[in-house]
Amino acid sequence: MKDFKGKLIYISGGSSGIGLGVAKLLAGRGADVVIFARRQKTLDDARDEINACRMIEGQKIHCQSMDVSMREQVEEVLKKAVAEYGVPDVLINCAGRARPAYFEEISYEQFEETIKVDLYGVWNTVSVLLPCMKERGGYIVNVSSIVGFLGIFGYTDYAAAKFGVIGLSEALRSELKRYNIAVSVLCPPDTDTPGFVEENKTKPDETKVISAGAKLMKPEAVAEALLKGMAKQEFIIIPNADGRFTYIMKRLFPWLVEMVTDSQVRQVQKAK
Ligand SMILES: NC(=O)c1ccc[n+]([C@@H]2O[C@H](COP(=O)([O-])OP(=O)(O)OC[C@H]3O[C@@H](n4cnc5c(N)ncnc54)[C@H](OP(=O)(O)O)[C@@H]3O)[C@@H](O)[C@H]2O)c1
Repeated sequence: MKDFKGKLIYISGGSSGIGLGVAKLLAGRGADVVIFARRQKTLDDARDEINACRMIEGQKIHCQSMDVSMREQVEEVLKKAVAEYGVPDVLINCAGRARPAYFEEISYEQFEETIKVDLYGVWNTVSVLLPCMKERGGYIVNVSSIVGFLGIFGYTDYAAAKFGVIGLSEALRSELKRYNIAVSVLCPPDTDTPGFVEENKTKPDETKVISAGAKLMKPEAVAEALLKGMAKQEFIIIPNADGRFTYIMKRLFPWLVEMVTDSQVRQVQKAK
């Protein structure tokens, strides 16, 4: 998909960070955009920002409060949205969050919440929208992470969810071809967003050292990379060169990646 003019895009998590960056870029390319997230005030502010990026005045930008982890609510809100705004051409599942910590410090409740938001959240929106999207085809993008293919220290619950997003998307890609629906998975590296600021508050020292080498991306650059990847219908879209290098190394030389991260962890633990 290259031309977004006149297309209808639904974005969960479109009120902040990467989702907002994608929404603004798509508005600039002429798309109608509906964003979904929980907090109404943030949604309203984001809608105003997206409105200001429109290519032409007639483009429609809407926002709806919805918690992706709550199945019944997702069903109710998305069915209403389809009745009101139409069937989306593109669904982008960007809602998500990370709360890094040592495994022993992650409560069962946090694990459950992470899986519900980051993994069930994707299942919920896709399962509600697929019956109407499959009638005319389209595009689904699920947002995973570098942690979706590399289990990094401090991210046991988040890695479980984001690895799951890649597996789900891979199987879905194969299944939805027959409906002319493309599926991609976006794996951003560390990106300068409000969510990343929150994430940094609980990072164990070992996690900080492992991620210290990675260059922080801007959400606008991640959004640009996503649209480029969608134009080529790439399945895995990794926005930066470091991330792509890590992906290849992890596939070809997993032992080498383990050696490097283990030595970073050892350094921190020795210094304690
Ligand atoms: N930033 C990074 O370094 C990074 C790296 C790799 C992957 N990612 C992934 O990229 C996505 C966006 O992250 P971000 O950094 O842009 O985060 P962000 O700035 O915190 O934005 C997250 C968005 O998701 C919404 N959201 C969170 N929980 C939700 C829920 N239960 N239901 C509906 N909406 C929800 C938030 O709004 P409300 O809070 O109002 O609901 C907000 O709109 C996430 O999936 C994240 O895991 C981020």
